[in-house]
Amino acid sequence: MNKILINDSIMERKKMIDIEDRGYQFGDGIYEVIGVYQGKFFMLDEHLERLERSAREIQLSLPSSISEIKENLMELVQVNNLQEGVIYLQVSRGVAERWHYFPSSDTKPVLVAYTKLEETMREEEDNGATAVLTEDIRWLRCDIKTLNLLPNVLAKQKAVEHKAVEAIFYRGDVVTEASASNVFIVKNNEVLTHPANHYILNGITRRKVLSLCDDLNINLQEKAFTVKDLLEADEVFVTATKLDVVPIIKVDQQTIGTGSPGRTTKKILHAFRASIK
Ligand code: PDD
Repeated sequence: MNKILINDSIMERKKMIDIEDRGYQFGDGIYEVIGVYQGKFFMLDEHLERLERSAREIQLSLPSSISEIKENLMELVQVNNLQEGVIYLQVSRGVAERWHYFPSSDTKPVLVAYTKLEETMREEEDNGATAVLTEDIRWLRCDIKTLNLLPNVLAKQKAVEHKAVEAIFYRGDVVTEASASNVFIVKNNEVLTHPANHYILNGITRRKVLSLCDDLNINLQEKAFTVKDLLEADEVFVTATKLDVVPIIKVDQQTIGTGSPGRTTKKILHAFRASIK
């Protein structure tokens, strides 16, 4: 588990952050968290496509091609013999004298990736979990997976302080997503989730759930819903890499539906589990 990828070399893990790395100083970079189940990547191509998109949106050129990055990540999982966990991958705009504007074009972006053991949240998946509500104070490009996560950090801390697994964001009346996951509600057998625009990250797990709903003939709409809709929903669940599909049975003090994981959520969860086998 000790090997890491730096640009295109796999090496022993060591302390290596340069104080003038722009990721460190400005959060000037992007990242991905990619699930590994039984030694195999889950939707790796989709994660790399999203990485490429994030890079483009912040005018960052990746240090290697997507196919080279893919090969290196596969090798890293192999040499570290990762069975259940994630790969964390980030690319910063590189190391340069600290000025806000972009550094000169010969500054090489820094790509770092490492593996991390992580089990799925089996207990929460089976029995449900709680969430808190918190105002969405993030910028208006939440579709980019940037290193700037301070509002998400503060929100998740609030959740932890309330013994909840997630903090669900609202902007005005509208529920956007959660601190590190996407949010779905079920009302009258219809599943709703926020459209994939600049207010949310278009989660890879979210996309899988959309296609599973299609396969299962579950009626799903990518349509914004309000905090009131959330609290009055029959079912609520959140999705993210390695968190997978977690039913939410209480939000703040409000019990959701019957107070246990609902029928539609369980159907989706079972289909999801089958898809990672
Ligand atoms: N977070 N929304 C936000 C704000 C997220 O940070 C994440 C994932 C998601 C779900 O995306 P995906 O299904 O592609 O993992 C939605 C990762 C896991 C993290 O920051 O650790």
